[in-house]
Amino acid sequence: MVKIKDKYDVIVMGAGPAGCASATRCAQLGLKTLCIDTVQISQGQPSGVGTYANSGSLARVTLLESAKLFDSLITESRAHGIIVDTVDIDVQKMVQRKDTILTEITQSIAKVFKQHKVDFIQAQAKLLDGKRVLVTSDIDIHNKTIAAEHIVLATDSVPIAIACVPIDNEYILDSSAALNLTEIPKRLAILGAGVLGLELAGIWNRLGAETILLEAQDTFLDLADHQISREAYKVFTQQGLELKLGTRVISTKISSKKVLVEYQDNDGHHAIRVDKLIIASGRKPNSDNLAAPEANLLLDENGFVHVNENLRTNLPGVYAIGDLTILGPMLSHKGMAEGVFVAEKIASIQSLPINYNIIPNVIYTEPEIAWVGKTEQALKAIRDKVTVGVYHLNGNSRAKSAHKTNGFVKVIACAKTDIILGVHIIGSHASELIAEAALAMEFSASQEDLARTIHAYPSFSESLREASMAAKMK
Ligand code: NAI
Repeated sequence: MVKIKDKYDVIVMGAGPAGCASATRCAQLGLKTLCIDTVQISQGQPSGVGTYANSGSLARVTLLESAKLFDSLITESRAHGIIVDTVDIDVQKMVQRKDTILTEITQSIAKVFKQHKVDFIQAQAKLLDGKRVLVTSDIDIHNKTIAAEHIVLATDSVPIAIACVPIDNEYILDSSAALNLTEIPKRLAILGAGVLGLELAGIWNRLGAETILLEAQDTFLDLADHQISREAYKVFTQQGLELKLGTRVISTKISSKKVLVEYQDNDGHHAIRVDKLIIASGRKPNSDNLAAPEANLLLDENGFVHVNENLRTNLPGVYAIGDLTILGPMLSHKGMAEGVFVAEKIASIQSLPINYNIIPNVIYTEPEIAWVGKTEQALKAIRDKVTVGVYHLNGNSRAKSAHKTNGFVKVIACAKTDIILGVHIIGSHASELIAEAALAMEFSASQEDLARTIHAYPSFSESLREASMAAKMK
């Protein structure tokens, strides 16, 4: 058991991606660091990363890889001259494989904590006044107040509950239970066609579930570049997803082992019966029990913690990072960057401010969707003159050889300076290709720089160069 001290240099509340990154960097910089989370203890050892591994992205991507393999054996193997007579699924084994991978990642982060001497306790932490934290646990210690010179709030976000749709995790599932199904539902509905809804749909639809997405908004994937959203809509519906837009779920009822989902759209009131309903209706900052009232931590009306550009809250020595703040999107890698930034601030190391304009976004569907920087519609709205180059993957040799020709790459640059302002990709390996675009933008590369950079032939990455060249040919 960890011997907890009465005072630390830094206490990090939350062991999600942001909290883990912050605690590790603090310890690397010689600060005595305690990290607290309500995570499970695995094999008698504090894992330190319950929410890290359970944050969902890795679990979804792992299952999606299995689902993609299954799907390609059925739909693509013949094109490669491979005859597979029967393809079957063992869902329990698939889910077990995912759990094994999460455990391995959890253990490797626990090792990093140990190596850097980050103390960790599984407990509920609450911010008190005077840079103190109340720790409540029935495992390691009971009630204890611990002080610190600096406190980093990193308690992540939680799903938004919908009052009329009570989750029971048997028929109506949250996003975690949706990754632990033991059999494939015949008919599945997903409430919310945002990033999460699409990723979950991509898994279960590919494994054979008839999948219906119920989305309240009239538009589809509004946050992405609209040319990409239109292509995604086309491809996903061709794959068999039923996308019902402008559809607000208003109630649910469970009867005869089915879920009756009632919804409202422009044509009135409707109902469907499904085997399972997954809720993917968005997330909110996990700040409800973050601080005692006397701490006077300032939150906005949506529960986001108020921070300045250095991620300092209104309380001296108290920082907030990750999904808790309104700065930037709710993405693990944004939180991790903030965690490191805050640790370096605490250690008085000069570090560059976080560039919130250059954060890669990825939707792990197949084809994948990824972007960095501004969309064409956002640039047009502010009347920026731009040059746009688009390259379709059906012209890319590597995409042809891999039988993955769906999608395109779009590179947008300032018409005057040629500096790249946004890159948007729908296609295989988009999650990897976007890293080149982010790096190019970090170094203020121009469309011409990208067009003149030699890329390996044949490779998917050539499509970035081709899209940049396409803009120059206009
Ligand atoms: P979201 O806000 O992107 O999508 C939720 C959708 O549910 C919305 O489009 C909303 O209109 C719809 N909705 C809400 N109530 C409804 C109702 N009663 N009936 C029908 N539709 C309803 O939230 P999501 O997908 O849960 O993601 C939350 C956050 O986590 C986002 O910031 C997202 O970017 C992030 N995330 C990132 C991932 C990644 O990086 N790959 C994966 C999953 C989530």
